Amino acid sequence: MKIFVDTAMIDEIKEAESWGILDGVTTNPSLIKKAVDKLEGVSLEDYIQDILRTTDGPVSLEVAGSTYGDMVSEAKILYKKFNPINDNVVIKIPVNTCMKDGDDNFEGIKAVKTLSETGIPVNCTLVMSSNQALMAAKAGAAYVSPFLGRIDDHIRKNMGLTGGKDYPKGNHYPEELAERAREYKLVELMEGKDVGSMIYRDHDIMNIFDWGNDAGIYSGVDLIWSIKQIYDSYSFETQIIAASIRTARQVRLCAEMGVDIATIPFNVIEDMIIHYKTSEGMKAFCEDVVPEYMNILKL
Ligand code: E4P
Repeated sequence: MKIFVDTAMIDEIKEAESWGILDGVTTNPSLIKKAVDKLEGVSLEDYIQDILRTTDGPVSLEVAGSTYGDMVSEAKILYKKFNPINDNVVIKIPVNTCMKDGDDNFEGIKAVKTLSETGIPVNCTLVMSSNQALMAAKAGAAYVSPFLGRIDDHIRKNMGLTGGKDYPKGNHYPEELAERAREYKLVELMEGKDVGSMIYRDHDIMNIFDWGNDAGIYSGVDLIWSIKQIYDSYSFETQIIAASIRTARQVRLCAEMGVDIATIPFNVIEDMIIHYKTSEGMKAFCEDVVPEYMNILKL
C-alpha cells in the first residue's frame, strides 16, 4: 500500500520523506489554510513549489471553484503553473459541488471527465458513497478519495451515539458496532411477534443504515471495502486513496484489504511506528549493553 501524507505542512512532508515511507501528498483548501497561517517570509507559490520538490510522488492540489467552468480553468492554471516543477501535480476535483438545494449537482463529475480527457490527472475528492466512486471511475479519474473518517462521524451521529456531537478526530469508531445494533434490533423485533409492526420496524431499521442515498454502508472502512469490490469487479484503473483517516487501526484495516493508497495525517503516521512494547524492549536492551560489547562497536 502506498502512503501519502495528508498535510500541507512542509516540515511534516520533509520528515516523512526522510523516513523513506512517503509515496505522495494530498492537500485541500483547509490544509493549505493551516500552512498559510504559519507562513513566514515566503510566498504561497514558492511554498507549494517546495512541497512539489520534496517528493517525487503525486501531490494533490485542489481547485477552489464550484462551477464546471471555474474548476476546469483553475485546474488548468494550477497544472500549468506547478506541474513543470517536478512533473507530479494531480488536481483534486470534488465529485459534486452543490452546497444547497437548486445548485447543479453534476458540475464536479463533468469537470473530472473534461480534465481527464485532456490528460490532467484528477483525484476525485469528497467521495462519500460507492456510487460516487463508480461515477468518478467511469468519468476517468486517476484517483478517488473516499472520506472514511467523515463517514464514521456521520454514521455515529445518525445512530444517536454522540448525543448530536462530533467525536474527537482520534476516536475510533468500531465498525462492528453498527452490526451489533442491527442484530439487537432484529432480536427485539423477533420477540415482538407482531407481523404488522415487524414490517414497519424492519423498514425503520434499514433506514438507520440509509445515510443520504446510499443504503447499507455501516462504516468508513466498509465504504472503502465496497468501492474496492466494485473497482476489482470491473478492472477500473482508478486508484483508491483511503482519505479522512483518523487512526492507525483504520490504516491497518485498509492495508489488510489491499487498498492502493492511504493518505494519512502526520500524527497518525507517527502512531503507526510507536508501540509501547518496542519502547520497553529498547529500554531493556540498552540497560543490558556490557562494556565489552561497546568496545567492539568502536572503530
Ligand atoms: C484528503 O484527501 C482529504 O482532504 C482529507 O483526508 C480530509 O480529512 P478530514 O476529514 O480529516 O478533514
